[in-house]
Amino acid sequence: MPDAASHRPRRVIVIGGSSGIGAAIAARCRAEGHRVVCAQRRAGATDTVRLDLREPFASINGALEAAVRMLGGLDWLVVSGGTAGYQESAHGAALKQARAEERRTGDRPLDRYLEVAEETMRTSAIGPILALEAAFRFLERPPHDPEPSRALLIGSTITQAPPPDLAWYAAAKAAAQVAYLGLARRMARHGVRVNVLATGWARTPMTEAIAPAKLTKILRAVALGRMAEPEEIADAAYAVLAGSAYFAGDTIEVSGGLP
Ligand SMILES: NC(=O)c1ccc[n+]([C@@H]2O[C@H](COP(=O)([O-])OP(=O)(O)OC[C@H]3O[C@@H](n4cnc5c(N)ncnc54)[C@H](OP(=O)(O)O)[C@@H]3O)[C@@H](O)[C@H]2O)c1
Repeated sequence: MPDAASHRPRRVIVIGGSSGIGAAIAARCRAEGHRVVCAQRRAGATDTVRLDLREPFASINGALEAAVRMLGGLDWLVVSGGTAGYQESAHGAALKQARAEERRTGDRPLDRYLEVAEETMRTSAIGPILALEAAFRFLERPPHDPEPSRALLIGSTITQAPPPDLAWYAAAKAAAQVAYLGLARRMARHGVRVNVLATGWARTPMTEAIAPAKLTKILRAVALGRMAEPEEIADAAYAVLAGSAYFAGDTIEVSGGLP
């Protein structure tokens, strides 16, 4: 049965709504008349709360509680926060340092690689999983509620062909995606539809630091021959959020035709 009341204004939290895909999803939801609070590391602007995915459960829980208070409830949760290491994030800096040290000494600096692994796992796997667990009590509905709540993880197609220099990132994304699909099964019985949008290459601050030669090679594999604009990914995210109530524990791909 389609989600009959899809035009009712929803109360939406976007984690990682400060930039790129998350910002485009927040803008799209607002344009459709929904109320949005962005949970992000640098809060302060209107309709934002501070949330760092690397922090412990209690902190993530507190940030979501504050956002829910601002909205008066929660209907949709979008988890878009993440870091890949292309850009000058803490992860990117740690990875660069580790590689420089390896070139200099000829040894693998395992402590540094552990830093990269922990940073990546906390940001792109553990944090998103804790956020869904923390949001569950706000998203819970009676089992056959005609208007189920929604949770959407912005996943990645990188899990299907992990490049060597992004192995930890791909592993973290895969961990979150698998956990979401597992949790979807438990939460479906409580009126929550949890899904994953596996996204191909998109033109955001995350990918703008990719070297041109590398980018040309990457785009050769994309049928459309270009990256998605963040708004195109937001279109797909919105189609899942506002779309069929039969999406439950599904991975929907938007990749411009990756093999
Ligand atoms: N771009 C692509 O090609 C692509 C492809 C597949 C999947 N994705 C996924 O799409 C999502 C969004 O990425 P994007 O491409 O839009 O990149 P982006 O523009 O760099 O946005 C990343 C977002 O994640 C937030 N973030 C980073 N670390 C965080 C932390 N510790 N706690 C909370 N928020 C944090 C950033 O917030 P700050 O402002 O605080 O830094 C920012 O809002 C990510 O999950 C990424 O894995 C992207």
